[in-house]
Amino acid sequence: MSLMFKDIEFTQPAEFQFTKANLTKAKKIIEKYPEGKQQSAVMPLLDLAQRQNDNWIPTAAMDVIAELLDMPRIKVYEVATFYTMYNKQPVGKNLVQICRTTPCWLRGSDDVTDVCKDKLGIDVGETTSDMNFTVVEVECLGACVNAPVVQINDDYYEDLDANSMAKIIDALSAGEKPAIGSQCGRHTSEPAGMSANDYYKEEAAPVKKAIVVKKAPIATKAAPSKKQIAKKPAAKKTQPKAAKKSK
Ligand code: FES
Repeated sequence: MSLMFKDIEFTQPAEFQFTKANLTKAKKIIEKYPEGKQQSAVMPLLDLAQRQNDNWIPTAAMDVIAELLDMPRIKVYEVATFYTMYNKQPVGKNLVQICRTTPCWLRGSDDVTDVCKDKLGIDVGETTSDMNFTVVEVECLGACVNAPVVQINDDYYEDLDANSMAKIIDALSAGEKPAIGSQCGRHTSEPAGMSANDYYKEEAAPVKKAIVVKKAPIATKAAPSKKQIAKKPAAKKTQPKAAKKSK
């Protein structure tokens, strides 16, 4: 059970079967891995099971995956419980994951959280009684440049504030699909209020004349001329010392 979610009472289904279409997909995924390495398919298969089962993975699905990959059940449980992207209990149709790591927190994630709690009438880690929303808090979603960020199912909503978050919840409650990405109108992560091109035109410093640094010539010893070589006195021949006479 992930710490993101508050514990709830729920019933594990007795069995799980991949649909015919998903079983075909699962087999294709497994075929991508070399002979003997099929267990590496455990993560995409868990994802497939989760998508089939209303965004959560029952234990029975993990057991089916273990059998498909010929691996011990405990190894599948280990993977599923390690990664927070796998939900081990039922969640709402809209899983709202609020990033509350430092950049998002500094940019107002507390306001975003408060709006979610107020509008939905639930606390962090809880699901609405109509199973339409679950709100959890998560660590960095890797989009800090557009903080604060919220992930809802597979989509990111960025540059949020209390007002834009409220509008997103209203739209989802009405069964609509709100526009994903930045909510302040900027394109991707461009500077707010202008395009990246305009920003760089404004900010680019004028090109200065390159300063040419004259290097001092490196003093080198001139090679001796032929004349100098000819004049060079021959080395004195030294006579070998006579061996000392023994007394
Ligand atoms: S801190 Fe929120 S996306 Fe990185």
